[in-house]
Amino acid sequence: MTAPERDGPRPGRPAPVAVETPESMRALGARLAAALRPGDLVVLAGPLGAGKTVFAQGVGRGLGVPGPITSPTFVLARVHEGGRLPLAHVDAYRLGSPEEIDAMDLDADVERAVTLVEWGTGLVEDLARSSLRIEIARPSGAEAGETRLVTLVPDGPDWAGRLAALGLGDRPGPGGSGPDGAGQDAGHDSRAGRSDRGPAPAAP
Ligand SMILES: Nc1ncnc2c1ncn2[C@@H]1O[C@H](COP(=O)(O)OP(=O)(O)OP(=O)(O)O)[C@@H](O)[C@H]1O
Ligand SMILES: [Mg+2]
Repeated sequence: MTAPERDGPRPGRPAPVAVETPESMRALGARLAAALRPGDLVVLAGPLGAGKTVFAQGVGRGLGVPGPITSPTFVLARVHEGGRLPLAHVDAYRLGSPEEIDAMDLDADVERAVTLVEWGTGLVEDLARSSLRIEIARPSGAEAGETRLVTLVPDGPDWAGRLAALGLGDRPGPGGSGPDGAGQDAGHDSRAGRSDRGPAPAAP
């Protein structure tokens, strides 16, 4: 069951956006990138294969980051330089506590960069005063195809206004609240079922 402290309150929850292809997911990331500033923290939530890294690729494209953005699963964090802003891309899948995040010494990068953290819900929010949580859900059912439902959840006062300025704010989305209550549990960061990602990397 979803831990309330990790998901935030349900009332006023923004409507999900339907994203039908990987390229549309990248376009959404690029659109968000236009509004990003140094110090911004974006937490990417959703199950394995949801499209978190694909979204990060779009943010990288929007920031003008040269070179490919790939999953930082084994390096845990990678800072991409050379774009409008540095992009720190973190995979917190194997990290179990905020103390392990602290031990990564991300603070200096977080201040000057845009930081995207996959699997970071409930672990990394203290790295910044506010954050944006992007919840990606995979609706079930054959008719859903490859469509993902993406909910942008502001955590902190400034994000709601910034999303509204981008046209990504709280408003009725396509299909209302979405089929199957999709999006509702994407932020839930249960470690259950993570073993299919293979063994943990060897310690450096
Ligand atoms: N609408 C869509 N949006 C994003 N990705 C999609 C979509 N439809 C299909 N895909 C595919 O789903 C996969 C998403 O992979 P990705 O690595 O981004 O997932 P992830 O959420 O980062 O997973 P992990 O938790 O393992 O890091 C890609 O192979 C992508 O091509
Ligand atoms: Mg990923």
